[in-house]
Amino acid sequence: MKKQLLAMACLGLSFLGNAQNTATLQADSGKVTINKHIYGHFAEHLGTCIYGGFYVGENNTKIPNKDGVRLDIIDALKKLKIPNLRWPGGCFADTYHWKDGIGTKAQRPAMVNTWWGGVTEDNSFGTHDFLNMCELLGTEPYISGNVGSGTVQELKDWTQYINLGAGTSPMSKLREQNGREKPWNVSIWGVGNEAWGCGGNMTAEYYANIYRQYATFMAGADKKGLFRVASGASDADYKWTETLMKNIPHQMLEGVAIHHYSVLSWGEGKKTSATEYTDKEYFKTMQQALLMDELVTKHSAVMDKYDPKKKVALVVDEWGGWYNVENGTNPGFLFQQNTMRDAMIAGATLNIFNNHADRIRMANLAQVVNVLQAVILTKEEKMILTPTYHVMEMYNVHQDATLLPIKVKTNDFVFEGEKLPAVSVSASKDAKGLTHISLTNVDPKNPQEITIDLKGAKYVSVSGRILAAEKLRDFNSFENPNKIQPKAFSGATISGNQLKVKLPAFSVAVLELK
Ligand code: AHR
Repeated sequence: MKKQLLAMACLGLSFLGNAQNTATLQADSGKVTINKHIYGHFAEHLGTCIYGGFYVGENNTKIPNKDGVRLDIIDALKKLKIPNLRWPGGCFADTYHWKDGIGTKAQRPAMVNTWWGGVTEDNSFGTHDFLNMCELLGTEPYISGNVGSGTVQELKDWTQYINLGAGTSPMSKLREQNGREKPWNVSIWGVGNEAWGCGGNMTAEYYANIYRQYATFMAGADKKGLFRVASGASDADYKWTETLMKNIPHQMLEGVAIHHYSVLSWGEGKKTSATEYTDKEYFKTMQQALLMDELVTKHSAVMDKYDPKKKVALVVDEWGGWYNVENGTNPGFLFQQNTMRDAMIAGATLNIFNNHADRIRMANLAQVVNVLQAVILTKEEKMILTPTYHVMEMYNVHQDATLLPIKVKTNDFVFEGEKLPAVSVSASKDAKGLTHISLTNVDPKNPQEITIDLKGAKYVSVSGRILAAEKLRDFNSFENPNKIQPKAFSGATISGNQLKVKLPAFSVAVLELK
């Protein structure tokens, strides 16, 4: 009898351990649009993101390019449907003087890139190069203005150079002399970057005043107006957000930024390896990634206090995993590989952003090519797509779709007595009426089964794709570029109003329901 009781207790315990994840989808209650700009990217003059990444030079005969911009990258990013691209930094933006980057290339002055490796910046990739590249990509430019070491006049001139109609001002005439008649009409502008740090080490109060001054003189894009983003808080600095929301009149503020990286330590060489991390480092990295939910919830709550109608957007214009650089690479270039851990960060973070779409209306993964959690890595003529690329491509079905509320009860991913939610989910309905559900299981050891109650719609079929791999530390390399790729997913079934999904350990799936 004792034995029987013990066996029953054990059975109970193991059942509890594998308890079903459950969720309820409200398919008829969508009110908020998931702004496509949540899926934005970031290209800084840092390492080989621009030079040797995007830009290989007009005279390059080995790598197919248009005006020096590599066409394989353009093709890959078009498939990703990148909605916006932030440039020229980052920290670099507050050292950048845009007039050095226009006109005849051979005559452009050089400077030292003091933030990133101390290399010489010859300014051969400047305003025209970037904005023409955005046209090629079919993406909206997001320009970060220099507030830290620039002047109000300089930023005013830049906005006029880019946005004023032909012949209407000295700046537009200068643009015409440099070969571009039509304005580019750039709407999205950052007023400085990390003003609390590399952007000038300012206090929030001081920056709020400076912001007001700069924002007053910026010239808007024709018919579009400006979308001005204030340099926002680092991580949990809610006081910074509060100071900006309180002190900047909201008619001159369209967005407030925050930056949050999944990093374990800021010391050089003290982060984790990008590919050879321990189980503990994986858990800690995911803890940092999932902290995003708390951060955006709390920053949004502060914003709600001053802006209950949610006019001002929360803009997460830097996010992603930050690890030690690859052996043998310049520590100032931030070149790192990208494994399934990065796919987990991307899947879980994008679910968080989608579910907060009422306040988050823009975000930028750091960074797009060859830097930090890149979607593309290049090595001379070779180019590879990372697991993060594939997640962003799978999730792009959510761009500009209507967010559908979905409530999840998930199992925990437990590690040495600490726990994290294993499964994260978000859902949307697109313009064609298709419902998409994206699911990420960050648990590296346990597959998860989830039953989703489908309320408010009748669905008859489900199909989907999955990103999974044999090992968590797997990555795409220049030797084996397609090791990790999305595949057709057969682990989801609909029966009546129930959807059952079997997610392998450390996997990301996106489903389409009809
Ligand atoms: O993305 C790399 C750097 O991280 C950016 O230049 C800066 O804004 C942040 O600290």
